[in-house]
Amino acid sequence: MPDSNPSSTPLPAVFQVRIAPDGWVFAATPAQSVLQAGLAAGVELESSCRNGTCRTCLCRLVQGEVAYAIDWPGVSADEKAEGWFLPCVAQARSDLVVEQPMAWSTAP
Ligand code: FES
Repeated sequence: MPDSNPSSTPLPAVFQVRIAPDGWVFAATPAQSVLQAGLAAGVELESSCRNGTCRTCLCRLVQGEVAYAIDWPGVSADEKAEGWFLPCVAQARSDLVVEQPMAWSTAP
């Protein structure tokens, strides 16, 4: 697995994730996938396999940095360069803005 924190600077305990365009905000620890963090907060993103292979969760990372929990997530280098990412296996490494118009909230 690539070193997601090469500077060895301690990561903050939690990052803020904002879902655009609806504006839901939730916290994500560096150890959680963005998908898991959303589910824990009542914000659901489309998903299926949850292991980085089916691409159901593919969406755009508008702002911020992520690291992948697996070596070969199902997203190409070109797609990564264009901002596409897989939240089911991506872990926040900064505050994030994620574009996912199909997200929904189960929070009351
Ligand atoms: S849910 Fe299958 S790749 Fe994310």
